[in-house]
Amino acid sequence: MAHNSLEPRDSFSSKFGVIAAAAGSAIGLGNIWRFPYILGENGGGAFLLVYLVFIIAIGVPVMMSEFVIGRNAQRNPVGAFKKIRPGKPWYLVGLLGVVSAFIILAFYTVVAGWTLEYLVQSVIWLVSPSKYGFSSMDTAELRNFFTDQFHNFQHGSWRPVIWFGVIMIFTGLIVISGVKDGIEKYAKILMPLLLVLLIVLVIRALTLDGARQGVVFLFKPDFSLIKTSTVLEALGQAFFSLSIGMGTLITYGSYIPRKENLGSTALNVALADTFIAVIAGLAIFPAVFAFNISPDAGPDLVYITLPVIFSKMTAGMVWAFIFFLLLCFAAVTSTISVLEVIVAYFSEELKMKRRNATILAMISVGFLGLLCTFSWNVLSDFRIMGKTVFGLFNASPDILLPLGGLFIVVFVGWIMQKKVVKEELSSNGIYKVRFMNVFIFLVKFVAPLAIAIVFLNGLGILRL
Ligand code: PHE
Repeated sequence: MAHNSLEPRDSFSSKFGVIAAAAGSAIGLGNIWRFPYILGENGGGAFLLVYLVFIIAIGVPVMMSEFVIGRNAQRNPVGAFKKIRPGKPWYLVGLLGVVSAFIILAFYTVVAGWTLEYLVQSVIWLVSPSKYGFSSMDTAELRNFFTDQFHNFQHGSWRPVIWFGVIMIFTGLIVISGVKDGIEKYAKILMPLLLVLLIVLVIRALTLDGARQGVVFLFKPDFSLIKTSTVLEALGQAFFSLSIGMGTLITYGSYIPRKENLGSTALNVALADTFIAVIAGLAIFPAVFAFNISPDAGPDLVYITLPVIFSKMTAGMVWAFIFFLLLCFAAVTSTISVLEVIVAYFSEELKMKRRNATILAMISVGFLGLLCTFSWNVLSDFRIMGKTVFGLFNASPDILLPLGGLFIVVFVGWIMQKKVVKEELSSNGIYKVRFMNVFIFLVKFVAPLAIAIVFLNGLGILRL
């Protein structure tokens, strides 16, 4: 997909390619790491219910809107708003997306690096089962491994920094070389494989003693556990998981061939993404309860729980190795899509060469990412609004993405011509758009109002 403004724009090669690329962006650490831990902090079942409602009523319409904008304008997010609505400040929505991309890429790459540590740990255990590796540790030792040994540089651990660098460079190389098209091919095989492995984990987790409590936690809503911030976090997580609200899918939308059906693509991607998140929850929570791990352990939750599950499996470290490899791949198909937003902006709007654009983006994101990895050691006392740099960056999608999404639906619902929107959704008449009126109603009224209310309520400006 390498191109600059002089070459014709690349596009995805097939219907399945489009879905694979968008699903590759959507499915990642958001589903397997962020979703379970945020759900765990927010009381379980009730959060899940709110989350699902947001995916359907807000997430899918926002995703379709991004595709409509992107494919119509054939540009990066900033250029797209400029082209469709010239001379108006709408392009600032695109810029907000670029800023979000910097922040998200910085902390996301750090977490993606953690999967490499666990990959190495599973190999170590395979080679030397009795002595090293995480499978010989009990739950307390695992927590210690994560919070103390792995994060704490006083114990000589620069490993998180190195892993972060590896993922960053890997992502950059893929974006520069344009082998993204090749990635689509692998995504088609590896994503389903990730699902298969998750299902294996679910089976193991469900057969643990005390698993039931985890299933109840995940599926039985207890609304008394919902805090004021919960609803906003559910909305933020829905946006984060679907990769919407910052122009990733405007950028990918601009590579979608004219004949593809945008509505069904969005639905398929949202379905796959949500399914994987729920399955991940079903693997994690039974084990969380079976092993007395606290569900609100925060960002470490999954990285403590998964190794415990593996240690209770026959040939656990082989499973662990494959799983973390697939997770790493899933993470990289997401980091590529975030980096792509920045690179498309730099190269199309600032007229930089694609290669230079990528290098500049990597250096600046690299700097921000370093600050994130320092949050557990060098900068552990440094707080902004009571949060470490990692904490702040990791919380920011909950604000930035719904805000971006709000402008995106308003733009499609109120600013773009209905005729143009219809042309995009029907691919110039190839498809019958059965739900056009529902879609317009959602993007004009439901989504903007819902986002605004959740937003103001979550920030404490409006009390419900
Ligand atoms: N959706 C990705 C995930 O769940 C993360 C992401 C967010 C990617 C925003 C692109 C844009 O892992």
